[in-house]
Amino acid sequence: MNTQEIIKLFEQHVIPNYTRVPCALVRGEGSWVWDAEGKKYLDLFPGWGVNGLGHCHPAVVAAVKKQAEQLFHVPNNYYIREQGRLAELMGKLSGMDGRCFFANSGAEANEGAIKLARLHSNGRTGLITALNSFHGRTFAAISATGQPKYREGFLPEMVEGFTHVPYNDLEAMRAAVDENTCAIMIEPVQGEGGVYPANQEYLEGLRELCDLKNLLLIFDEVQTSPGRLGTIFGFQHFGVIPDILTTAKALAGGLPMGAIMVKPELAPSLRPGSHASTFGGSPLVCAAAIAVFETLTTGGVLANVKRMTKHFAKKLQELQQKDLGIREVRQCGLMIGIELTIPGAGIVRRCLEKGLLINCTHENILRLLPAFTITPEEADEGLEILEHCLSYIPEENKGEVKS
Ligand SMILES: Cc1ncc(COP(=O)(O)O)c(C=O)c1O
Repeated sequence: MNTQEIIKLFEQHVIPNYTRVPCALVRGEGSWVWDAEGKKYLDLFPGWGVNGLGHCHPAVVAAVKKQAEQLFHVPNNYYIREQGRLAELMGKLSGMDGRCFFANSGAEANEGAIKLARLHSNGRTGLITALNSFHGRTFAAISATGQPKYREGFLPEMVEGFTHVPYNDLEAMRAAVDENTCAIMIEPVQGEGGVYPANQEYLEGLRELCDLKNLLLIFDEVQTSPGRLGTIFGFQHFGVIPDILTTAKALAGGLPMGAIMVKPELAPSLRPGSHASTFGGSPLVCAAAIAVFETLTTGGVLANVKRMTKHFAKKLQELQQKDLGIREVRQCGLMIGIELTIPGAGIVRRCLEKGLLINCTHENILRLLPAFTITPEEADEGLEILEHCLSYIPEENKGEVKS
């Protein structure tokens, strides 16, 4: 099947809720993918951050193959060996003796975390989140998300109890806390919002505030864990320990998985009957996630994330000095946002034509979430293509973007 035939299938049979680029990817390896015609692309945004170890990492492939021959799925009214092993591993690696619940996506993990926070808080229901945040697409997650555009068309019935305050503004957070507040939910680095890292003092201040007011601190680490900031969990990069952590994306090396991890004393609050997932924590997906953590802890991968964080920072600083319409570069680990003075959609399209896959968010912020295994040569090749595309801006794409 060629790309045109695949596009036709979509036009006839698939709900058109995504803005898709005219490209059908059929194979991947590391930071590279191939389309249906065999054209090769360098993928600097692999799987929207899901393919943290790159496409089809051999350790994940081997673990999935082995597990697939034994057992795919059994429900959660049985004890699942791989789920227990994964939870043990995550609890140990977090250093917080964390207890886990497994779901299938980031939004679901957040949904569960919100429920747990309320169940734990004896009738207090208020949650405070940040403006410009993104927590997913379920009703609770769009209610938590601090961007009104995600609620458009779904009003008036939102999940009640959410307050949104400016990010990195401790005073605003303090002022928003009242007697009904049970939790604060924050991304340590706002990803979809345009790659805005939290200030160290902000996260430390939130921790203090939560301790003082008996609130739960929830870190939405769907994008920042595991691995992306050069530490297993993102909070370890900042040294600020949350009460509840949610993660997804890179967790199972490309298979769908989300998780909640909580301090041990919170775990009993999610009591039988209060929450569940049919698919969550299956042997197959857990085997993949175990392979991800084993690779992160034994294979020098985190060291590569740290090395490549510096490499990208240096190269992007050089690129920014070239007067190519880059307003600002923001980076934390291998989360990179390149804010342009012009719209980014045309640049993304041009990069695609030249064999480079990147993303654009908020109209003018190019986003890169490179694989943890990326090499300096691959990074340089990608940035050369990007520089080339920024140098030849198509006429229709030249409009200035408001600051
Ligand atoms: C911080 C954050 N939370 C939650 C989500 C939602 O995750 P999912 O699309 O897996 O539901 C995302 C997705 O981009 C995210 O970046």
